[in-house]
This record gives sequence, C-alpha cells and structure tokens, in this order.
Amino acid sequence: MTTSATSTTPALSAAMRSFVEALPKTELHLHIEGTLEPELLFALAQRNKVALPYASVEALRAAYDFTDLQSFLDLYYAGANVLQTEQDFHDMTAAYIARARADNVRHAEIFFDPQTHTERGIGIDVVFAGIARALRQARDEHGFSSAMIMSFLRHLSEEDAFTTLKAALPLREQYRDLWNGIGLDSSERGNPPEKFAKVFARCRELGFHLVAHAGEEGPPAYILGALDVLKVERIDHGVRSEEDPALMERLAREKMPLTVCPLSNLKLCVVDDMAKHNLARLLRAGLAVTVNSDDPAYFGGYMNDNYLAVASALELSRAEIVQLARNGIDASFLPAADKGRLTAELDQYDATH
Ligand code: ADE
Ligand code: ZN
Repeated sequence: MTTSATSTTPALSAAMRSFVEALPKTELHLHIEGTLEPELLFALAQRNKVALPYASVEALRAAYDFTDLQSFLDLYYAGANVLQTEQDFHDMTAAYIARARADNVRHAEIFFDPQTHTERGIGIDVVFAGIARALRQARDEHGFSSAMIMSFLRHLSEEDAFTTLKAALPLREQYRDLWNGIGLDSSERGNPPEKFAKVFARCRELGFHLVAHAGEEGPPAYILGALDVLKVERIDHGVRSEEDPALMERLAREKMPLTVCPLSNLKLCVVDDMAKHNLARLLRAGLAVTVNSDDPAYFGGYMNDNYLAVASALELSRAEIVQLARNGIDASFLPAADKGRLTAELDQYDATH
C-alpha cells in the first residue's frame, strides 16, 4: 500500500525504496487488535453472527477518518466486538504475522488489551491462547520471534487493572516463552500515569518489562510520570517530549527508547503533515527513536509504509534509516545474544546493499 503523506513529499529513489523494504526490522509498538483489517473483521462478524453497523468493507474503511485518539478508539473497540473465539484471535494474529514478515520484520513485541474482551464476557485464557498459538506457529515454521505485552486500559480504574493482572497471573507459566511485558494504553488525556502507580509497582516486583503510552496526546509531564512513577523502560510515542528541552536532554542521556508511530500520528491528527513530523529532529537530537505501526489496519500502513513515509517526507539519509532499525533492535526486550544476531544481520545488510 502506498501512502501519500502530503502532496509535497519528495519521491524516494527506487534504490532507497528497495533498501528500506528489505531492511531487517523489529516492531515494538503494535496493538494486535489494531491489525484487524476490514475484510477479516467482516468475515469474523459473519462467522460469529455479529451485526455490524456498516453495509460493506468499503463503508467501514470510509469511516476511518479520525480527528483525534478518542475518535479512533471508539471504532477500534467497536471493531474488537467481532473477536469471540480462540480461533478468531489466532486468525487475526496470523494475518498480522504474514504482513509483518512481508515487510521483513524479524521480531515483534505485541500489545494486547484483555479488558477489551473480558468486559464482553470473553475469557482471558481465550485471548492468550489464540494470540500465542499463532506466535508459536510463526516461530516454529518461520523463525519469526515475538513477545506479548499485556496492556491495561487507562480509561478504566487501577482496580480494574489489578483484577486483570490477577486473572492473567495463573497463565504466566504457560506463556512464559512469550508474555514478558506490561503496557498502558487507551485514552491518554485525563488519565495520567500516576493513576496506575501501584499496579505498575506490583508488575515490576513480578519481573515484567514495563512500557507505557505517554506524550502522544498528553503533555510532557505524562512522560515524566511514566519514567519516574511507573519506571518504564520505553516510552510509547513520546513525540510531545519536544515541548520540554530538559526532558529531551534526559531522554537522550538515558538512551530511553521512544516507539514512534508516524502514520498513526498523521491519522490521529497529532501532526497535520508528515513533512512536519518531529521524528527526524528527535533522532538528530540523539534520542533512541524507533519506527512502528501502532494500529496498521486503521492507519493505512504496516512497517514498510511507516519507514517509507518518514524516509520520504523527512528526507532521511540512508545512515539515519539504518540507525532507526538499529535502535529498534537495541530497544527490544530480546536477550543480548539475539540482539547481537539481529544487529549482525543489519550490519551485513548495510554493508552489502
Ligand atoms: N490503543 C490502540 N492504539 C492506541 C494508541 N495509538 N494510543 C493509545 N491507545 C491505543
Ligand atoms: Zn499505541
């Protein structure tokens, strides 16, 4: 899929395009429910006899015209209603993996939102089982590596998050090969990180990796809260850090990864033109910026589309594109040996293309 970020976007050379496309990549910010393409959404609705308020796939896709995060979330949660069985979660995940592999994604750390499903009476075990079966299949058949990051919905209470954690913990042993992280997503404004201080502290004691969405729509203070109160290891989005020069310096000094999602930012009106996206400025200020697709079925593009959109609109150099991919490996929760292998693959690619 091509994405025309703006009419003034310079065209990429064919050589640069193919360099970006075949670059080995990691994906660190991906909501599995945000990979549900309208075609699969319709097929699952039919399979599960769920009525949809749209006459066709085209009509649904035409509704993907967002003004802000909440306008997207309303459709995203409604879309997730078609997910009912273990097979549904499996099929959605398998479809994402096929798409990611086509973009040369080698490793993906995947958010899932159990509360979106348990609120509708779907068992948390069903959610885990379907996603994990597809991820294990991809690992066994294709060497595609992955991890699962269970995310709490921040528009709900901390008590709800604790209830979810309690329901999930008995599954930990069964999914130890995949489930290694905890995240925080959904409506950012009015739901600061501090609201989840206790549950994140507990997850930290339990040994999970911690991440949180911060500074997508929320102010730089939310990024500080995620760092200092939640003690996260990566900031999801973080693009509003630019409003606070001291925070920018700190993020650079601490090499704190930002999982930036360019097409998401454009579709949710965080930026009004890809040429004005601050990804290049953040990268050039020394921040550990990574590129990711967030909710690709809703935002018009997967990993390669995101890389190509910024490479073109921001006129990134080849070295900067390689740096983005390198940052993605470094910022992953992979063991050091796996990071080393992926970095060697990236270096080899860079040297020979
Ligand atoms: N859930 C899914 N996508 C999200 C995003 N971009 N921000 C916050 N919550 C989300
Ligand atoms: Zn996100």
